Amino acid sequence: MQKKLLELEKQLHSTLKESRFIHTQGVRYTAAALAMCHGQNIIHAQIAGILHDCAKGFSDEKLLEICEEQQIEISTAELEAPYLLHAKVGAYLAEQQYGIKEQEILSGIRYHTTGKAGMTPLEQIIFIADYIEPNRREIPGLEECRRIAFEDLDKATYYSLENTLLYLKETKGEDKIDPVTKEAYFYYKELYKEGE
Ligand SMILES: [Fe+2]
Ligand SMILES: [Fe+2]
Repeated sequence: MQKKLLELEKQLHSTLKESRFIHTQGVRYTAAALAMCHGQNIIHAQIAGILHDCAKGFSDEKLLEICEEQQIEISTAELEAPYLLHAKVGAYLAEQQYGIKEQEILSGIRYHTTGKAGMTPLEQIIFIADYIEPNRREIPGLEECRRIAFEDLDKATYYSLENTLLYLKETKGEDKIDPVTKEAYFYYKELYKEGE
């Protein structure tokens, strides 16, 4: 498996632009640390981390084209903001181009942008690692979220979703938010309240 990790790292280094590769490494190691902390598969977390943005460099046209060709479902939110599709297309490429068979890795990649209600621990780890990795610029609430991530995954998912929604509302407007993300937010808000 170490060989596979090294091979993937080399491939992504040659295909991603430098800043995205640096972000990818940050997600990889943050995901590994979170997997250690929460008793998840550390190798799977790293593979999902390395590959999560493998389709991020694609144009909107290219993402839409791949989805049409491969019959990957496109939601209304994705049609309006096709960059969201880099998650679904990333999962497709991880399987077809990078030879990943493990479903938990593929779904970690698939839901890293929108999140969803009832995520598996590995899905939560990639979602959170993408948000808190060390190279992220400082934004309100990030420090707190970094601390909570190593204590309580559900609470950290709730915090990340809340901050993501606030950010999206300010930058893109309420109507551009994927309903899957809103649904995820309310799911984890309820869960967090129950756990209090
Ligand atoms: Fe992404
Ligand atoms: Fe990312």
